[in-house]
Amino acid sequence: CGIVGYVGSAKSVEVLLGGLRRLEYRGYDSAGIAVIDPEGAMHTRKRAGKLKMLIDDLDGRALANGSTGIGHTRWATHGGPTDQNAHPHLGDNGKLALIHNGIIENFAELKRELIEQHPDTVFTSETDSEVAAFLVGFEYQETHDLALALRNVVARLHGAFTLLVLHTDGPGVVVGARRNSPLVIGLGDGENFLGSDVAAFVEHTHRAVEIGQDQIVSIRAESVTITDFDGNPVDSHEFEIAWDASASEKGGWSSFMAKEISEEPEAIAKTLLGRITDGAVHVEELEPLRDSLAEINRIVILGCGTAAYSGMLAKYAIEKWAKIPVDVELSHEFRYRDPILDEKTLVISVSQSGETMDTLMAVKYAVDAGARTLSICNTQGATIPRESDAVMYTHAGPEVAVASTKAFVAQIAAFYLFALHLAAVRDTLTKREISGLLEELQALPDQLATVLEQHDKIKELAGWMVDTSAVLFLGRHAGFPVALEGALKLKELAYIHAEGFAAGELKHGPIALIEPGQPVFVVVPSPRGENSLHPKVVSNIQEIRARGARILAIAEQGDAAVLPYADVVIPIPLASTLFEPLLAVAPLQIFAMELAAAKGLDVDQPRNLAKSVTVE
Ligand code: G6P
Repeated sequence: CGIVGYVGSAKSVEVLLGGLRRLEYRGYDSAGIAVIDPEGAMHTRKRAGKLKMLIDDLDGRALANGSTGIGHTRWATHGGPTDQNAHPHLGDNGKLALIHNGIIENFAELKRELIEQHPDTVFTSETDSEVAAFLVGFEYQETHDLALALRNVVARLHGAFTLLVLHTDGPGVVVGARRNSPLVIGLGDGENFLGSDVAAFVEHTHRAVEIGQDQIVSIRAESVTITDFDGNPVDSHEFEIAWDASASEKGGWSSFMAKEISEEPEAIAKTLLGRITDGAVHVEELEPLRDSLAEINRIVILGCGTAAYSGMLAKYAIEKWAKIPVDVELSHEFRYRDPILDEKTLVISVSQSGETMDTLMAVKYAVDAGARTLSICNTQGATIPRESDAVMYTHAGPEVAVASTKAFVAQIAAFYLFALHLAAVRDTLTKREISGLLEELQALPDQLATVLEQHDKIKELAGWMVDTSAVLFLGRHAGFPVALEGALKLKELAYIHAEGFAAGELKHGPIALIEPGQPVFVVVPSPRGENSLHPKVVSNIQEIRARGARILAIAEQGDAAVLPYADVVIPIPLASTLFEPLLAVAPLQIFAMELAAAKGLDVDQPRNLAKSVTVE
């Protein structure tokens, strides 16, 4: 869910809706706001559906000129997406409004207690959040102090949550609490903001403050106070937001995704920028791990979705260049199977948002088990980096479309830098080898730009395939994660059944799926190099073509061997094996996006998905 809070002199409705628009990628099945007007009355409005439904509903009936308010965009967990279940929820006889992100695990028990103590309570929703609203309301009736009331309630909550509350008795204050769920402060001039991430307020200020775990914040127009859950003041860390507000605008593009794919060359270039000098990697952010990197004997990479696929490529690169064994695991599988970790294990988490709950919990598990931790993340001020020993930011800029594109290539670039740094630390490659590989890495943005020039051709291909019901993707070695990512994109965006396979696995089962006309994308390895897998993949192509498959090949420019067997070839520039994925994935992203667009689907906000999944 996305959360925004505001206290200042502007009309808060406009600030809140602007913030929600930028946060909508975090959830978009309902939205709502609560504002206190200058006379001290509470106004709320909430609607199921996309933010537009709420905006249309407000049209012509502008809420009062209140300058204190909270807003929420929801991704349903407890209770379906209905008007009633949308936030805010009210307590203290409508004088208090609350919004919530996360899950309160013991809500059923708390609800039972609440009904026992206050049998007249009328619940209007099925949410855990409404229980919290009533609880804070009753605490307020006792304490007449909103921050204290919230502190007393959060002490009883289990689970993960960000809560924002306001009360008509205190028309100039918004109080927030966070545990394992994101919340950041924006510092303005005579106004202050709260947001799930900096996108909520970057339009108004570039000054932000992190809020730690288990902390309570009260914002007023002229002040910000942060305490722990016991009420003790805590130190805070202010930072400058590097993103430009316009970077999270669509500009002239048809969708955020189209814009973000076009930004991939820049995402790679910016991730490398300033980190390569004199043919060697220099990443200051890795300093906290300096001693550990020489001592570790194993690496575990954790992530979900697209991020996990970047981790597979990282494994290939780290094992090849730095000669350390690497395991890659989905974060949500990892911590529930008693994994073996010690201080010689480096756990690298990879997450665009830095908030994915599955990954966050896995990182905490690793920290508790004594492992060293590194976060590869795209979002400043996010939770996962703060829980880790060190963070290496990808500089892809804000990614708004729900399905990840440019962050993926930036993650791979960051991982490769890390792998080459590790190779230098552990002396597994010569300086010359490292500088040669870095040169290849630096050539990728320009090479990728030429791949993107084929957008129209790929769009045409997607246009022919609108009626397709299933697509298979094959790849081998570095092409395998690309195949998996191509299939994931098609599922996410076009709702088409899609599966990615390792080409060598084909004969062990998946080949049974091939029937005449079945489209199969094949990521073909380069024919150059001594141990090229090219001949094997070309044989795989022949096997499935003989059974009627339609072959859509992504192959190196000038690869004549695939031509006789491919129905369509999308050429990519020459690159060595580990760098090919950075060139081969864009055509698959474009294909999925254009196919979804041709089907009339919303490519930026696919059904049922949220960009940062802050529940387990
Ligand atoms: C969600 C998104 C995916 C993304 C995954 C991991 O499921 O829909 O596009 O790959 O989360 O997100 P993260 O922010 O951790 O990279």
